[in-house]
Amino acid sequence: MSTAVSKYNHFLDLKDIPSETLRQILDTARRWKEARKGLPKGAVDEGAPLAGRTLAMVFEKSSTRTRISFEMAMHQLGGSSIILQGSSMQLGRGETIADTARVMSRYVDAIMLRANTHAAIEELANEGSVPVINALTDRSHPCQLMADILTIEEHLGSIKGKKIAWVGDGNNVATSLIEAAVKFDFSLTLGCPDGLRPDVDVLNWAEGLGGDITVTGDPDAAVRSANAVFTDTWISMGDDRTGTKLKALEPFQVNDVLMAKAADDALFLHCLPAHRGEEVTNSVIDGPQSVVWDEAENRLHAQKAVLAWCLGVI
Ligand code: CP
Ligand code: NVA
Repeated sequence: MSTAVSKYNHFLDLKDIPSETLRQILDTARRWKEARKGLPKGAVDEGAPLAGRTLAMVFEKSSTRTRISFEMAMHQLGGSSIILQGSSMQLGRGETIADTARVMSRYVDAIMLRANTHAAIEELANEGSVPVINALTDRSHPCQLMADILTIEEHLGSIKGKKIAWVGDGNNVATSLIEAAVKFDFSLTLGCPDGLRPDVDVLNWAEGLGGDITVTGDPDAAVRSANAVFTDTWISMGDDRTGTKLKALEPFQVNDVLMAKAADDALFLHCLPAHRGEEVTNSVIDGPQSVVWDEAENRLHAQKAVLAWCLGVI
């Protein structure tokens, strides 16, 4: 894990960014969301905060929400974006990430990367000379968590001191949730099968900072009296669908019985795409406690503020 201080405002992982900065980003997101209520989605925000700026987005993996929300974010901020598939770039034929970073930095103002490996995004940030945004790696998904915190706070008020549960695979989104728990000061219990627990490095990092993080193999204990219950796909992009993983995760499905063990007004969150009938039932994701569509919309609002911070506008 790189901890080197950079002269650029990279958004690589929540753990690297001070709590006050993350709070400032969310406050901006909430204010800008409110300010453009009622406008057509393609209308540019007052003052066009990113006029003249261009974001390049590189995708090594599939995306629906991230791709569309970042493109609309740049548009609403008065800037522009370029969308690239890693496989159709020279990157896909062996040009190094370092050389790609140096070249792209001469053309664009910021780079967003959805990468197969976390090492790739760290190399891009280290070798380029513009801000880099992590749009998901095998390790983490920090932009997702900014939208998730925004969503929880819209529904429940400040997340500080709230009890949050994660049920399922201890994956990249879970890692960013652990980092968010430390940065935003909430209590987090993760219910994960043995062998699918979050990475020990992030748990040690959280423990070292006094984070209120518990990992259990019991899904009921994980959600007990929680204010919000998170899950995610059991098979992330790049994971193998064969083997024992699905079987091990079966008891961790978020269904009505499990949700009933959380607080009465508990929210249900999922970064999407959902695999209905696997990690979550239709009755939960389509039910009254689900905020997944607000959560998806908030990718746009949260990322607008992330972009503005990366580019020095806030
Ligand atoms: N949640 C999320 O990142 O969705 P996409 O994979 O569709 O971008
Ligand atoms: N954990 C999932 C998140 C998708 C947005 C994956 O990495 O595929």
